[in-house]
Amino acid sequence: MTPGRSAPHPTAEKATKDAMSNATTVSPAHSASTASTLITNIAALVTNDPSLGDRSPLGLVHDAAVAIEGDRVVWTGDQRKAPATDNRVDAGGRAVIPGFVDSHSHLVFAGDRTEEFNARMSGRPYSAGGIRTTVAATRAASDAELEANLTRHLAEALRQGTTTFETKSGYGLTVEDEARALRIAAAHTDEVTYLGAHIVSPDHADDPAAYVDLVTGPMLDACAPYARWIDVFCEKGAFDGDQARAILTAGKARGLHPRIHANQLSYGPGVQLAVELDAASADHCTHLTDADVDALAHSRTVATLLPGAEFSTRAQWPDARRLLDAGVTVALSTDCNPGSSYTSSVPFCVALAVRDMGMTPDEALWSATAGGAAALRRDDVGRLTPGARADLLLLDAPSHVHLAYRPGVPLVREVWRRGVRVA
Ligand code: NIG
Ligand code: FE
Repeated sequence: MTPGRSAPHPTAEKATKDAMSNATTVSPAHSASTASTLITNIAALVTNDPSLGDRSPLGLVHDAAVAIEGDRVVWTGDQRKAPATDNRVDAGGRAVIPGFVDSHSHLVFAGDRTEEFNARMSGRPYSAGGIRTTVAATRAASDAELEANLTRHLAEALRQGTTTFETKSGYGLTVEDEARALRIAAAHTDEVTYLGAHIVSPDHADDPAAYVDLVTGPMLDACAPYARWIDVFCEKGAFDGDQARAILTAGKARGLHPRIHANQLSYGPGVQLAVELDAASADHCTHLTDADVDALAHSRTVATLLPGAEFSTRAQWPDARRLLDAGVTVALSTDCNPGSSYTSSVPFCVALAVRDMGMTPDEALWSATAGGAAALRRDDVGRLTPGARADLLLLDAPSHVHLAYRPGVPLVREVWRRGVRVA
């Protein structure tokens, strides 16, 4: 059970429908049963439990083993003390880490924006306006096309180690198009976010107030049954602080919990609003005042950094070091979308965060696993300790540090999800 979840809704616990578990071409090595399996001969195991191993936040255990029963971890520790199990898997001296928790993506869309990217890399600036191109393509697509595009990107993400993901609407911007985006997303994940307030719909360009009424009225009614979260792009050219507050407050009244695209392109009220409303996450956090950092540090709101966006828009990096030094909980996610960050690769984001945002390899890995779980207010993923979901990655490396040390190299050798090898 995830803390903060509202009343039962159509997305609740649907493990068997999750496309990530069947989107792979690799046959499962182990069947999903209650049989126990020991993964042993692990050179370095990241548990994210600071009471284990080296007592660091990663709880790093050397010469380790993980015992799995059904879809859960039942034991982790020194392999010499491992319990007897039905099956054994030799990790061959590799590193094992929790599956990545990608807490921010926009995967229900059609078309791409190659030309816009190409123009940007030739000197044109990024603005919120390009979203309209994807809105037009998404509205024109069939349900089947949108779902096929979603499952293609999920399979891509799974191969790179993403075992939990959040995704949003926001490229429909009509009642029907937003609701269908969420319905399609809800068939693949429990972490579904209503982002009718991505930009003011082109149909309401002359009357933004009428669009806010739609987003907080009929569109919310149609979308709330499929979503856990509500999000707003709080930015110049999208929604201001007052509009964002009205939208998120309306969502809260319908049992949706807030998260905010905040302070991405400029300074603004998004982060303070996130803290005021106890949003699970303030996402982007690229332009922050000291007061913004301080507010985050004294809140439960996670700062989710999305370096793929700064990479793909050639923008200033968010300062992870400043946030971490202030005591803010930081998550790292892809923001995968066709406009500002068309990457599904968490390992790529980890490498960028280490190289350019002042994170250590340990901090970046924590943020991409436990941090993502915190941003989704989940305690069943992002760690490898008894009771957690058995979502884990075998790396073709002796240490998780290689994710940043060997950028761009496909180091994810095996992906296990809910106790089953899926890639
Ligand atoms: O997270 N910031 C707003 N939304 C997306 C961009 C979407 C787009 O350009 O299509 C983001 O960067
Ligand atoms: Fe985003």
